[in-house]
Amino acid sequence: MLNNSQVEYDTIIPNNVSLSSDKKVLKALERWHPGYIDWWKDLGPVGFQDMLVYLRTAINVDKDGWATFDYVKMPEYRWGILLAPQKEGRTIPFGDHIGEPVWQEVPGEYRSMLRRLIVIQGDTEPASIEQQRFLGSTAPSLYDMRNLFQVNVEEGRHLWAMVYLLQKYFGSDGREEANELLKRQSGSEDAPRMLGAFNESTPDWLSFFMFTAFTDRDGKMQLEALAQSGFDPLSRTCRFMLTEEAHHMFVGENGVRRVIKKTCEMMNKAGISNPYDISKIRELGVIDLPTIQKKINL
Ligand SMILES: [Fe+2]
Ligand SMILES: [Fe+2]
Repeated sequence: MLNNSQVEYDTIIPNNVSLSSDKKVLKALERWHPGYIDWWKDLGPVGFQDMLVYLRTAINVDKDGWATFDYVKMPEYRWGILLAPQKEGRTIPFGDHIGEPVWQEVPGEYRSMLRRLIVIQGDTEPASIEQQRFLGSTAPSLYDMRNLFQVNVEEGRHLWAMVYLLQKYFGSDGREEANELLKRQSGSEDAPRMLGAFNESTPDWLSFFMFTAFTDRDGKMQLEALAQSGFDPLSRTCRFMLTEEAHHMFVGENGVRRVIKKTCEMMNKAGISNPYDISKIRELGVIDLPTIQKKINL
C-alpha cells in the first residue's frame, strides 16, 4: 500500500491528496468554498446553524481512529477530502479492460460517462440535506437531532468528495458541473435534483428514518459499485465514503425499529390487538402499524 494516508491540515480543506502542492485544484476548491457555505446556510439545517453540535469529523483514512468527536457549529465543520489509500498494483476488476492496471487519469473514451456518474452521485448528497432541512425543529430527542446533523454534515462531505474529483480531473467542464451542484435544488420546478427520490419531501421523522434505512441502503449499493471503478481516484473516494455511510443506515434502521417497538408496546399496554384500530392507536400517541407499512412500501 502506498503511503498516502497522510492528512494535511494547512489548507482550509483538510485532505490527503496533497492539495497544498496542487495549486490549481486548491484554488478551484477555495473559489467554490464560499458558494458552498452560502448554500449550507440557505438550504442546510434550519434554525441550528449557530448552535454547538457534538459531531463526528473524518480526519484520517486509517481503519482505527479515522474520526474525531467534538462540539462544532455546523457552518464551521471541517469538510475534508479524504480518499482511501491507494492499493499498489490494483487492476480493473471487470469488463472490457479486466486485468489491466487501474486508471489514475480519466481515459478519453470514458470521460463523459465518468463525469456523468460523478455528477449524479454528487447531486444526491446536497439534495438529501435540502430534503431534511426542517427536521431539526421536530426532533423526537436530542439523540435523534444529533444523528440528523451528523448525517447532514457527512452528506456535505460527500459533495466535497465529488466536487474534488470534478475539479481535479475534468477541467473547466468539471468546474462548471461543480457550480451547477449548488444551483439545482431538491423539489425545485426550474432546476430540480437529478434523481426523483431526491425531489420528494421528507416532512417528518418517520420519512427520515425510512430515507436513511432504504434510500441510504440504495446509496450504499451505488457507492459499492463505484468503489469497483477502474478510475482509481473514484474508487478510493467511494471506498472511504462507505465508512460514513454505515452510520446513516444505522440511524434509519434504529429509528424504524424504535417507532415500531413503541407502537407495539403501547398497543399491548392498552390491550389493542387489531392493528387497524387506527384512531384508538393514534390516541396513544404512537403511529399505527398500517401507516408505518405504507411508508415502507413507498
Ligand atoms: Fe452520501
Ligand atoms: Fe448517506
